[in-house]
Amino acid sequence: MTKEAEQISNFFGITAALLFITGNAYYPAKLAAKNFRPWSPETALFFKRYLKVHIMLNLAALMAVTVHGHYAEERNVLLSGCFVATVWLTIAGALMHYRVVPGMQRQLRLLHTQQVLFVVWIVLIVAGHASL
Ligand code: HEM
Ligand code: HEM
Repeated sequence: MTKEAEQISNFFGITAALLFITGNAYYPAKLAAKNFRPWSPETALFFKRYLKVHIMLNLAALMAVTVHGHYAEERNVLLSGCFVATVWLTIAGALMHYRVVPGMQRQLRLLHTQQVLFVVWIVLIVAGHASL
């Protein structure tokens, strides 16, 4: 693997990480805000706007992580699984948001917003890199 490939991979890895963190802070923020219901109109508007940010940043992060993984010099089953989980979360999120299959909204929401899946996804990222 050339030095350039490694630099490209590292750059996109850091970019993906920053995008994922900013985009998905949506989740803990919303969990915390659920304790303070009913929301003021400002808070409701904030989360409506943050959902758009969540979507845009996660879509951009998926592109970044694809380049990152493509140019990465090593991989393992955890990181491959992590990539599959990322693609799956994105597809489920997009299908839900754009109401592609109207009859499946409930199932998609359940799959996409599940805490277990979110935790597994983070464990795969961390454990995958730690065991390289
Ligand atoms: C979903 C999210 C992922 C995120 C947020 C992420 C993020 C990162 C970051 C920030 C680095 C450190 C870059 C640096 O040293 O400057 C890194 C390194 C690396 N990543 Fe990822 N990555 C992800 C997925 C993957 C996948 C799917 C693969 C493999 C196909 C992969 C393979 C690697 C490799 C080989 C390194 C270099 C490790 C080393 O320098 O020892 N990553 N990643
Ligand atoms: C790896 C990427 C992603 C992760 C880890 C992720 C994770 C999550 C989580 C944990 C929630 C629940 C937040 C809550 O309690 O309200 C959520 C909500 C949501 N996500 Fe994602 N998401 C990702 C990408 C996307 C993408 C790409 C889209 C759309 C194209 C999307 C659309 C949505 C929508 C519409 C909701 C709101 C569901 C509701 O109405 O409560 N997500 N996401």
